[in-house]
Order: sequence, then structure tokens, then C-alpha cells
Amino acid sequence: MSARVQQVVPDLVEAIRDVMKKHDVTFQDYGAAMQFLINVQETGELPVLVDAFFNATVVDIENATRKGTKADIQGPYYLGADAYNVVTDKLPHRPEDAGAPDMIIRGRITDLDGNPIAGATLDMWHSTPDGLYSGIHDNIDPKFYRGRVITGADGSYSVSSKLPVPYQIPNSGPTGLLLEKYLERHSWRPAHIHFWARADGQRDVVNQAYFEGGDWVGDDCCDTDHLDLVVPELIENGVRVMEVNFALEPAVAMAAE
Ligand code: BEZ
Ligand code: FE
Repeated sequence: MSARVQQVVPDLVEAIRDVMKKHDVTFQDYGAAMQFLINVQETGELPVLVDAFFNATVVDIENATRKGTKADIQGPYYLGADAYNVVTDKLPHRPEDAGAPDMIIRGRITDLDGNPIAGATLDMWHSTPDGLYSGIHDNIDPKFYRGRVITGADGSYSVSSKLPVPYQIPNSGPTGLLLEKYLERHSWRPAHIHFWARADGQRDVVNQAYFEGGDWVGDDCCDTDHLDLVVPELIENGVRVMEVNFALEPAVAMAAE
């Protein structure tokens, strides 16, 4: 057993027992909680539920030591590195989305001093113009709305796509029950673009960019309240431009701390 597991798990079990004692949990409560967990398992919602409630906490802990661009939640829809093995300056869209509003995402990846990082890898993924994820929902081919760009000599990148929209995370199963009924919250995420930036020798960062003034920005069901990358509105030739820059810190600096 790893030392980390030995450190964390006993405290976790004790914390749960303390809550049970605090609230005089009955056998009926216990059975209901068990049934809830069985429903989570049977609906396959475990990754969504865990990410909706706890991913942001790991992000907060990690951001405490970050000097560059802050991290944000990855969410459960990344699909793994194989979904990004095509380098492109245009994220593929479904034929039926041809008329949806266009978007350009562009920016630079630099080190903490602003020096360009050439050859950095940026994976990005976002929802369809109707709030779904390829490879996850409705049998949408995983090639859509996902892609990888590599920065040029000046650290810059640019890619075109279609505008994502706010969407509700699955809310007809146990995650929705917990969020909307038991906690009286909502299940909306603001429109966003997911990123994973990596470069040799640098600490990688997973984060998201949001649209300033957009619905649910600052009121995200997943508690992403650090919002390092809320991008002001910029329209060029009628197209929404998202300027998203990343400052990466050296990986060794983090290891030495
Ligand atoms: C997402 O941003 O893709 C996401 C985050 C948490 C739960 C479901 C989806
Ligand atoms: Fe998302």
C-alpha cells in the first residue's frame, strides 16, 4: 500500500464516520445512501459526479503552488491523448453545424518571463453548438470539436472552431438529484473551452477559458470560482476571437518546493 493511501484514507473514513455521528444517521438513511451509490454505479455517472463535486477542490490545492496560468477542472470528457493525435488549425465540426457561429482561439504560450515557448502542445476540446461532447453523447464521432495545436517559433497558436454554449451536466440521474434536489443548486456550466498545455521542461496545465459576461460565468455548477481565463469579448470580421495565453512555470521549480 502506498504511503499516500495510508495517509489519506484513514482520515477520509474518519471524516465520514464523524458526519454520520453528527447527524445520528439511521439504518434508513444508511440504506438510502447505499441505494444512491448503487444508482451512481448503475448509471455510469461516477466520473461526472466526482468531477462536479471534487475536481475544483484539487484545482484549488494545486493552484496554491502555481506561479503561472492557473489550473481549472479537467472534467470527465477529455477521452485520453489518442483523441488528439491530429495536429490542426481547425477543429473539425459536424456537417450539420456548418451554419453555427464561428470562433477563433488564439494566443501564446510563454514561460514565466514572457519568453515564447516554441513547440508547446495544446490539446483543446469543447461542446458542440448545442452543448454536447463528441465521443460521449449521442454517438457523436470523437473527432469533432477536439484537436491539438503546436506553437510556432514565437510561441503563438491559432485555431478555428464553432462557438460552444452553456450546457447542463447530466441531470436526470443521481448527479442531478444531488445537485438540484438535495442541494437546491443547478446543473449548468458556462460556455467554455477546455485546454491542456504541455511543453518540455515546464509544468503542464489543464484549464478552461470562459466568455466574459456569458451566462453562468461565476455561478458554475462545478464550483470553478478561480476563473483565471475569462476572456473579454473581441469580434473580428464578425467572428468571436478568444485570446487565451498561457504562462508555464518550470517543472523543476515545482519539484524543488
Ligand atoms: C465538463 O466541463 O466537461 C464537465 C465537468 C464536470 C462534469 C461534466 C462535464
Ligand atoms: Fe466541458
